[in-house]
Amino acid sequence: PKLLLINGPNLNLLGTREPHIYGYTTLSDVESLAATQAAASGASLASYQSNHEGGIVDRIHAARDEKVSWIIINPGAYTHTSVAIRDALIGVNIPFIEVHVSNVHARESFRHHSYFSDKAVATVVGLGTYGYTAAVGFCLLKEKEKEE
Ligand code: DQA
Repeated sequence: PKLLLINGPNLNLLGTREPHIYGYTTLSDVESLAATQAAASGASLASYQSNHEGGIVDRIHAARDEKVSWIIINPGAYTHTSVAIRDALIGVNIPFIEVHVSNVHARESFRHHSYFSDKAVATVVGLGTYGYTAAVGFCLLKEKEKEE
């Protein structure tokens, strides 16, 4: 099985950006941990980060051709604005998990609404970067169940 991890704008700064909110783990730490975790279950995981909405839309479209079975996505600030990324995920019909490092519900009210949560299989918020591990673990579990 193929998994795809997508991170949106400013998440390239993870580990150095507002560490009191987002922690000290870097995006490359997150990506290599996730790839190792997937490999241990016989799956593969590709990672993509972009600060550009259209790049993320294009990457989601490519995932369909690649027969990706799960997308784990932290859309960053696009969570609260992007109908285009929402439509891309619905359009390719690939199940996805929405991850937020911080507890968006404990922050500014503009972060309380997500264009993704009602279409996501699950959302993970406030677990720090462990949220990615939890999301990847869930996808791997579901894939194992499919094989049985
Ligand atoms: C975030 C929360 C968003 O509100 C914010 O714009 C981000 C990161 C998170 O992971 O907690 O860029 O998605």
